Amino acid sequence: MLSRRYLMAQAAGAAGLATVPILTGCSPGPDTSEPLKVIAARKGLSFGSQVLWRELQGDSAYAALVARECVQITPGNEFKWGAYEPSEGDFVSEPCESLLQWANQAGVSVRAHTLIWYRSIPKWAQRALAAGENTCFTARIQGAVSAFRGRVAWWDVVNEAIEPADGRDDGLRRSPFLEALGPGYIADAFFIANAADPEAKLCYNDYGFEYASPDHDRRRAALLRLLTDLKTADVPIDGIGIQGHLFADAVIDTKAFRTLLREVAALGLKIKITELDVRDASAGDSKAKARRAADQVRRYLDVVLEEMAVTDIITWGLSDRYSYWMDEYPDGSPLPFDTAFQPKLMQRAIVEAIEKAPIRAG
Ligand code: XIL
Repeated sequence: MLSRRYLMAQAAGAAGLATVPILTGCSPGPDTSEPLKVIAARKGLSFGSQVLWRELQGDSAYAALVARECVQITPGNEFKWGAYEPSEGDFVSEPCESLLQWANQAGVSVRAHTLIWYRSIPKWAQRALAAGENTCFTARIQGAVSAFRGRVAWWDVVNEAIEPADGRDDGLRRSPFLEALGPGYIADAFFIANAADPEAKLCYNDYGFEYASPDHDRRRAALLRLLTDLKTADVPIDGIGIQGHLFADAVIDTKAFRTLLREVAALGLKIKITELDVRDASAGDSKAKARRAADQVRRYLDVVLEEMAVTDIITWGLSDRYSYWMDEYPDGSPLPFDTAFQPKLMQRAIVEAIEKAPIRAG
């Protein structure tokens, strides 16, 4: 685990690299212009964001905001199989290399996302898996992890492998990987990744564990079962990512979510919130939506940050200008900074939740 001293040094070290306009328009109170990474580092927490290379490359003010606020980045699409190897053996490595270089210069670490995900399998590999030609599975993991060996701090090895609605007793998703390789593909993915870069930390990443609903009950049970099986089999897994794509009005099951986090921690795993943002389908105006989003993030982080095994808060983008949800929810308020890169109520909610959190050892 990264020590608090390391995080603070990293947060401080990169702060001078990029200059952004002073963040104005904040509510009075504590210094809201202090970067989130600095506030987080005081608690031994690591703050970061998802980014896309085209955003960093095309918008220098946004790149400066990311460098200012984050100690780590998660490339949103560039490392996915479908993007990285659209035809067999034909690697689109340029945006990955550019991102790694940018991160290196900005002094931020990289969490690469993701090796194995049912939604980003290139067509050629889908055909191969369906035909029982499974060598592409090992080659994908070995190839990508080796190519970026030593430069990627964490890999999301398997993404979204749970789907109780698919009707299996173990709650696993009936994905092309499961159909081709059986449920052992998850453990195998971790072993292959670990062999390719023993220094990289390895993560299982998924969504749907926080709400009071029968579906989330089943998803919590399936996650715990999966992780317990992986740990029992001595699979090299270091942590899990809980995505945290929130709905503004969904009810968080504080007790069940808290219990799940404690059980995951008891397995010796670190926990990262990896894709935090908020959707809001209500008819309210944008000001009301900004308030509702901030309130939901505050409720969520209050539960999450009580658990000492939670080490990272990573949002799925920093500014509403680049949110994944803006097409679907154009008047929404999904992220901590507005389209002009000013901090919003959500930024304040994150600051306040972090300030309340216990200090992580380190
Ligand atoms: C999303 C990206 O943000 C989009 O740009 C892309 O079109 C589809 O994938 N959960 C995940 C991410 O783990 O990989 C997804 O990213 C968002 C949901």
